[in-house]
Amino acid sequence: MTKRLLFVCLGNICRSPAAEGIFLHKIKTRGLEECFFIDSAGTGAWHVGQKADARMRAAAKRRGVVLPSLARQITLLDFERFDLILTMDTDNLQAVTNMEQKVGSKAIAKVMPILSFSRQSKFLDVPDPYYGGDSGFEIVLDLLDDACEGLLESINSMN
Ligand code: 4NP
Repeated sequence: MTKRLLFVCLGNICRSPAAEGIFLHKIKTRGLEECFFIDSAGTGAWHVGQKADARMRAAAKRRGVVLPSLARQITLLDFERFDLILTMDTDNLQAVTNMEQKVGSKAIAKVMPILSFSRQSKFLDVPDPYYGGDSGFEIVLDLLDDACEGLLESINSMN
């Protein structure tokens, strides 16, 4: 059965589009595209309709990863449409958990921090790179590459 994953950050232009692109790249490489429906969203609406941040897209491209997302804001319906909602930091987790409570018993999605699937990091927050320098984008990609690998392994081990 198709596994539906939604990656969530604040603006949906840096971290969650990167997670979406990295995960898509991993499933394409392994011929698993048909097994997944992948999307990303932001808890905020400031960047709705925008492509991923140009710095994030450039850093991902250097690793052979394309970021196809256009920003959108998470909605209450997403809790019925997705199996797993993967948050980038504690603030997103709190915002998403608050929404989940509004949805109540209709909610299908399990909400988890993406870094809970990390094999290397003991932290649960992917740092927000938006106001920092180029190295911040590389750190985000390193953290998300590791966590997406752990996530894919974990999903595959359930099947
Ligand atoms: P993201 O980064 O949550 O990883 O997409 C941000 C992008 C934009 C803003 C904050 C964080 N902003 O304040 O506009």
